[in-house]
Amino acid sequence: MWIDILKSISDRTRLRILNLLFLKELNVNEIIEVLANTQSNISKHLKILKSIGLIRERKEGTWRFYSISSSIDSKVKDFLKEVFEEKDFKEDIAKLKIISEKRNFITKKFFSSNESCALGKFYSLENLLISFSFLIPSGYKILDAGCGEGKLLKLLVKNRHISLYGIDLYRDFVDISIFSEDELKFIKFYKEDITKTHFDDNFFDIVFMNMVLHHIEEPKLAIKEVARLIKKGGKVLIIDFYKHSDEFMREKYGDFWLGFDLDYIKSILPYSLLISDYYLLENKEGLPYNFIIHIEKK
Ligand SMILES: C[S@@+](CC[C@H](N)C(=O)[O-])C[C@H]1O[C@@H](n2cnc3c(N)ncnc32)[C@H](O)[C@@H]1O
Repeated sequence: MWIDILKSISDRTRLRILNLLFLKELNVNEIIEVLANTQSNISKHLKILKSIGLIRERKEGTWRFYSISSSIDSKVKDFLKEVFEEKDFKEDIAKLKIISEKRNFITKKFFSSNESCALGKFYSLENLLISFSFLIPSGYKILDAGCGEGKLLKLLVKNRHISLYGIDLYRDFVDISIFSEDELKFIKFYKEDITKTHFDDNFFDIVFMNMVLHHIEEPKLAIKEVARLIKKGGKVLIIDFYKHSDEFMREKYGDFWLGFDLDYIKSILPYSLLISDYYLLENKEGLPYNFIIHIEKK
């Protein structure tokens, strides 16, 4: 091993490459730039260093990155560091600094441009929600009351450590086609009225009701049932329209209620449910505001 290493560092270019890679993982072009050498020369030297296990290569797309091999013996590392100190490759290190600054500049330019404001175009909000589902503690039982097509359950089911339940009275009902066969093993669906369900008392850890309450003739009965279903310390999240005056929504969407204000919600809460948080949120253009209420069972 030592003979190969000594042979390899007898060449000044290879020694300079090693010195750079000890400081930072670099791609071929960056090494060429610092050493002001040709591509074929640098590639030849990298091949030699790789063949004796001093460096390793990482491919990313069409680019190749090089770094010091993690399996190098600590004695070899110490020896090489001493050689680098003796040779004092100050100029190379200064150029390397410029390269790092260049890299950071490109990143900084991106994040301070409008392009970065559109970051959402590189991922979906659904994926962001899915990632939050993994914060739900294992073993939790979760009810989506008035689940409609089942879109929320479709996101939550990526977390296979929770038990999911969906109930809906009218729709026939969930859009089964959005679920894979495997996902359907982790969700139980029932065609039921949220004001009178078959579940045992204190069954759920969390109940969601997204845009359901304004469709229910007597919201108080639904809330009373939720209070029965939720465990002590369990959470209820209600998202709905804030009180509005768009009468057409009754006919167009079959809404019983033109939203609710906080006083009304408070007036229908049984003694066992306490509001922990309340937020009013803007909605999509042209739609009434939404509110989110976070309720806890004491
Ligand atoms: C606007 S949709 C919302 C669906 C779903 N929560 C979502 O976020 O996509 C309202 C749903 O509530 C259901 N629903 C209305 N009254 C109900 C009741 N008493 N019990 C259970 N579900 C009900 C409707 O069938 C409908 O699917």
